[in-house]
Amino acid sequence: MLADGNMTQYRRGLEGALVFPPKDGSFSPPVLRIGDITLDFPVVQAALSGYSDWPMRVIARRLGAPYTLCEVMLDQFLVSIRGRARTRHFLHLSDEEHPVAGQLMGAEPGQFAAGAVKLVEAGFDVIDINFGCPVKKVLGRCRGGFHLSQPEVALEIVRRTRDVVPSEIPVTVKMRRGIDDSAESRDKFFEILDGAFAAGIAAATVHGRSVLQRYHGASSWSFLAEVKRHLGDRVLLGSGDLFSAEDCREMLRQTGIDGVTVARGAIGNPWIFAQARALFAGAPLPPPPSLFEQRDVLQEHYGLSEQLYGERCSVLMRKFGIKYSALHPRHEQVREEFVKVRSREQWDAVLGRHYSEDLPGQHPDPSIHTAQGSGQTCEPAPGARE
Ligand SMILES: Cc1cc2nc3c(=O)[nH]c(=O)nc-3n(C[C@H](O)[C@H](O)[C@H](O)COP(=O)(O)O)c2cc1C
Repeated sequence: MLADGNMTQYRRGLEGALVFPPKDGSFSPPVLRIGDITLDFPVVQAALSGYSDWPMRVIARRLGAPYTLCEVMLDQFLVSIRGRARTRHFLHLSDEEHPVAGQLMGAEPGQFAAGAVKLVEAGFDVIDINFGCPVKKVLGRCRGGFHLSQPEVALEIVRRTRDVVPSEIPVTVKMRRGIDDSAESRDKFFEILDGAFAAGIAAATVHGRSVLQRYHGASSWSFLAEVKRHLGDRVLLGSGDLFSAEDCREMLRQTGIDGVTVARGAIGNPWIFAQARALFAGAPLPPPPSLFEQRDVLQEHYGLSEQLYGERCSVLMRKFGIKYSALHPRHEQVREEFVKVRSREQWDAVLGRHYSEDLPGQHPDPSIHTAQGSGQTCEPAPGARE
């Protein structure tokens, strides 16, 4: 579990987890391995329905993320996909973005496995199983987080998926810390976790909120520390409340886990990966990107989106523009303008009006992600459902 094996240098953190001490402000990040894939850095881009499409993943990779996860897709959708123009973008991959994971959600083990085969055929390097989504409609259809209440079915899904996916391709699982705070839920969590590793998963990602909790309250990092102690050498990634490079370092330090997955904190702020790289190397936190740096990435992101979606990208890029605007000193005004964008001309006009002077940017305020109506849903995006 420890990167340099020097046990004496470690102190005990939350509930006794082994953690890395500061060495002149730096620390030795763990080496993150997912099956045979060794990543050069343990801060990765999380799966984000409606966001972590090909353009967002490519931008994250270009700006320092060593690994990304595609937005979740339904097994039923994958089984019936016919390469229609409107949906084929879900499976679009490019050489520069490997390694990249495809993520699956479903109810029935046989169909789930069939969906996994489609992801393998599409070229994903890792197959991730979603046992975490807390959206009511998803739970009502016995998918996502619902599986945390039924270990037998959950483990059948893992086994059937592991069986059909070629052995060189890692299968991983994403979970919340349980359905709720009951002892029964906790027992089921550990039963699924241990059973999944016994069935051959390469890593688990745990979001430290319960399904019932949805996005209210904090992610329990102390639970992540406890899970890591339980798992020993088995690979654990953590999720929940990672809004800055410092948060990423703190989660790793406090919990002793092997990697962190940045979710809301990376939407409109792909610089978080390079900032974490600098911080982990012992450098001071780099300043937020200047307006020219932001403008270049906004243009690049728009260009990738245009390449994938054609004209309709303008409307799809609004939600990204809104989040990027949080790094602008006049963020409210810029936000209002991105909200109305309907064409490339209008996108360029916003950039022309607000990004033509190279002013310093600002680190985004995490409250932009927690505000009401900020779209916290992991329901598969329209088109990736049935
Ligand atoms: C808009 C949105 C979409 C999400 N989509 C997915 C998804 O497709 N698959 C998944 O496993 N988790 C999904 N999640 C959960 C995140 O990956 C992450 O676990 C959660 O947001 C907690 O991390 P954070 O507090 O740092 O945002 C989604 C979360 C949000 C806010």
